[in-house]
Amino acid sequence: MEHIYPIFDKMLTRTDKEELLGQQGLMVWFTGLSGSGKSTIAIALERELQKRHFLCRILDGDNIRSGINNNLGFSAEDRIENIRRIAEVGKLFVDTGIITIAAFISPNNDIREMAANIIGKDDFVEVYVSTPIEECERRDVKGLYAKARKGEIKNFTGISAPFEAPLHPALSLDTSRLSLEESVNQLLELILPKVTKKQNI
Ligand code: ADX
Repeated sequence: MEHIYPIFDKMLTRTDKEELLGQQGLMVWFTGLSGSGKSTIAIALERELQKRHFLCRILDGDNIRSGINNNLGFSAEDRIENIRRIAEVGKLFVDTGIITIAAFISPNNDIREMAANIIGKDDFVEVYVSTPIEECERRDVKGLYAKARKGEIKNFTGISAPFEAPLHPALSLDTSRLSLEESVNQLLELILPKVTKKQNI
């Protein structure tokens, strides 16, 4: 046929990528309130995995919201669309064999269930950063809780918008009780067996 250029070879598969990288792709999905410590733990985890020669990619709330999702706000609908796009992008990374670390409030079970379904449940590890709201508000790293209390930010998670704790997270980390090192060690114990390449016998 004219103007048709068949592709002779098939696209390389996830397994091909995983062999190249010597690792298994995985999504590590952090959920928790603003200021709970998701990003801090994500960054520390990435560093520890990199030290062990694992290739990771962090997807983080504030970065994604200033880029691909800069047209979205914090209504219930926009939060769904935010997480839907993140899950689709995350799936591309996981399918490239990369350990993908997502740090988003993702405030309810339905939203996290949607993400898990897009990514695939076998590749989805849910980690609840369960730092109590009193501690998040006391830290108030970005000054947002104070603004939310004054009514200057609407629909603020934990103050004027709901947060639903996950029912069966693979791991819960309360950063008011655990040091960063302790949290990362618990994560490594959970994740290393899942990302280490199984030997072809
Ligand atoms: S999510 O609910 O859609 O998953 P996401 O993790 O992307 O939220 O973004 C949360 C970050 O946006 C917070 O850490 C905070 O810095 C900022 N933010 C701004 N407005 C709000 C709000 N109304 N509720 C929660 N976070 C907000």
